[in-house]
Amino acid sequence: MIDLYLGMASPATLSFNAVIAFLGGIGAGIITAGMAPVIEMLFHYTTDITLLELANLDRPILRRLMLEAPGTYHHSMVVGSLVEAAATEIGANPILAKVCGYYHDVGKLKKPLYFIENQSDGRNKHDKLAPSMSALILIAHVKNGVEIARKHKLGQVIVDTIQQHHGTSLISYFYEKAKAVKGEDGINIDDFRYPGPRPQTREAGLVMLADVVEAASRTLENPTPSRIQAGAKPDQQDLFRWAAGLLRIDLERSTLDRQKLQQDIKRHPSPPD
Ligand SMILES: [Fe+2]
Ligand SMILES: [Fe+2]
Repeated sequence: MIDLYLGMASPATLSFNAVIAFLGGIGAGIITAGMAPVIEMLFHYTTDITLLELANLDRPILRRLMLEAPGTYHHSMVVGSLVEAAATEIGANPILAKVCGYYHDVGKLKKPLYFIENQSDGRNKHDKLAPSMSALILIAHVKNGVEIARKHKLGQVIVDTIQQHHGTSLISYFYEKAKAVKGEDGINIDDFRYPGPRPQTREAGLVMLADVVEAASRTLENPTPSRIQAGAKPDQQDLFRWAAGLLRIDLERSTLDRQKLQQDIKRHPSPPD
């Protein structure tokens, strides 16, 4: 067919068609690049191109995190790397997971010194606060993060991950502290819980898991996978079980074939009951 065309077409027609084809390719690229932001805005969708831009560590909000909350910045980088590797393993979106890891705690920028990873002078600002106030400040980093993410137009998927990254977990340290002072009947357990919802996507589930794993590994002297699981507090072990379940359900619903799924589950056994 091509030979026939080449035989019939004059050199001038061929050259003209080649130029048109070349310009068409460039035009298609320009239209696609121009339309992508419009489509992202209309459908609240974040493309991988935008995610790659957001992964740039020179983004102003990440630079602010590095300068104003260096402990949180380091934590976020580790979480980003962990979830990127985990997402690759289970067939989720590694670039989306990494970017969600980078930004999940930007809400700590409002009060960085109230978070232990940023307290380098050994002074804990919570020592002078009532446990209920401390819990309020910790819980607020989720809402503040959502606001910052919206202000910086990070996209709906990142906003949702920030909102979901602690699920409805309990801030047990301050809950127990308040219970010791006021007794179980004197406090409302829901005042010490994050508002949720629980992660709705595999990437958000991975961020929640990696967040706990990173924090747990910092408190252990010689962190190994089994020590991290064994050392997790009861509600964190619940979290492990729940997140492993979430990932498994997603794997079962995904397009992976049965054999691949079984291999994956063997490589990622459930935490011990
Ligand atoms: Fe957080
Ligand atoms: Fe975190």
